[in-house]
Amino acid sequence: MNKGKLIIFEGPDFSGKSTQIKLLKPALAKNNNILYTREPGSYLPDTQAYCEQIRDFILNHKLPVGQEAALFAESRFAHTQEMVRYINEGYNVICDRYLVSSLAYQGYAQDLGKDKINELNSATIDLLEKNNLPIYCLKFSLSEKNWQERKAKRLTKICADSIESKDIHDKVFEFYNKDSIYYDFTDRINIFSHTINANKEIEDMHKDVLNVINILIK
Ligand code: TYD
Repeated sequence: MNKGKLIIFEGPDFSGKSTQIKLLKPALAKNNNILYTREPGSYLPDTQAYCEQIRDFILNHKLPVGQEAALFAESRFAHTQEMVRYINEGYNVICDRYLVSSLAYQGYAQDLGKDKINELNSATIDLLEKNNLPIYCLKFSLSEKNWQERKAKRLTKICADSIESKDIHDKVFEFYNKDSIYYDFTDRINIFSHTINANKEIEDMHKDVLNVINILIK
């Protein structure tokens, strides 16, 4: 049986990832070998209770960055074990944020460094390596102008979680706009990245996302 793929959506806040995942579900409804999940947390049956509790804990406590990154990594390992089982059975897994977010929010924006992220996530990386699974990343990219506009509109409205309250948005934005040298934080797994232009209208972005996903899951 062919394996499925691990597909992740990554990008700065307000880049529209979650909206695009919402639009994908009905568009790909006929396709019964796709599972949707997210991090922090999990929507997969065996890990949902455990990982969603860790999610709540992280988002409700302002933690030192090392502890924050360790909790993301711990939850990610459990989540990845379940994802790998499904992928080996032929399912494609689409995950809203994953390992790259730890590089962005903890490694880069809070200066923990990519080596520490690599070390904390070594069990996850081992698992992906052993199963020969690359990561396919749809990276949502916004212009500086649109980023500033969306940030000004949204930050006044939302009730910030602990990570948003750390005021690291600009550095996170900078990370995702870099040419991804930072992504080569480990030579043990491949990360294939495809940039989605998040400056477009929602419907146009949807077409672009759908095109990429259709190629990946073919
Ligand atoms: P969420 O409400 O899911 O935000 P978003 O819609 O932006 O994905 O909250 C998740 C937050 O957790 C978000 O601010 C990004 C952050 N995060 C990290 O800091 N490190 C990580 O490894 C992951 C997966 C997420």
